[in-house]
Amino acid sequence: MSRIALVSAMHEELAAVLERMPDEQKTVVAGREFWVGHWHGHEVVAVLSRIGKVAAATTATTLIERFGVKRMVFTGVAGGLAPHVNVGDVVVAREFIQHDMDASPLFPRHEVPLTGMTRFAADAALSEALATAAPLAMQDMLATLPQTEWLNLDLSNAQLHQGLIASGDRFVSQTMESQALQRELPDALAVEMECAALAQVCHDYDVPLAAVRTISDRADDAAHVDFPRFIQSIASRYSVAVLDRLLVQLSA
Ligand code: ADE
Repeated sequence: MSRIALVSAMHEELAAVLERMPDEQKTVVAGREFWVGHWHGHEVVAVLSRIGKVAAATTATTLIERFGVKRMVFTGVAGGLAPHVNVGDVVVAREFIQHDMDASPLFPRHEVPLTGMTRFAADAALSEALATAAPLAMQDMLATLPQTEWLNLDLSNAQLHQGLIASGDRFVSQTMESQALQRELPDALAVEMECAALAQVCHDYDVPLAAVRTISDRADDAAHVDFPRFIQSIASRYSVAVLDRLLVQLSA
């Protein structure tokens, strides 16, 4: 059976995942706790990515080299960048870019030196499965989450978007910066701090990667307020719901 890595960005998400794994065993490597166990008949390895591109790349490399994972699925939150991507929406990545990669004039802006690549693709089949699971998971979550905890968001109308996710080593919390990113990468849907690094590692090792991010904030002047509220109430519940649906689907 091929091992699947379940990579989360936040403790709350990992805790919710571990509740679903009855037989998990912990191994510590590079200061990270890797939890090997089963969920819906799949052999899974659950771990926190940690925050930022280098931390995420180390986690991904360890998952592949030490734990032999053959597929990787990331869940977390992101800031909405494109004007139509609102708080509470869901983004399934189809491509990843490092928005802060700039070795110009030696290499073109955003190109990862010596790879000739600017954008890294998500795995098509795994992303398709995630996109099928995503709206079902939203319904599952809303069925058990009292409306008083919806943070005044219209979650029953949450939209699913698919496309480019931009990663960089910055929490984007200023409207000016978010607007500059939108001008620079007009098709980027959301911004976060890990997935393009995972994508580069997965590309090097030929390991399929898919990622889903709920939108916790608009990467603007209110981001520092919206982000923690969203994580506490919604993010981990959604992550576990989407993984639950995905793993059932992958067994079918
Ligand atoms: N993750 C969630 N919101 C974010 C933001 N505004 N910037 C970077 N990463 C994020």
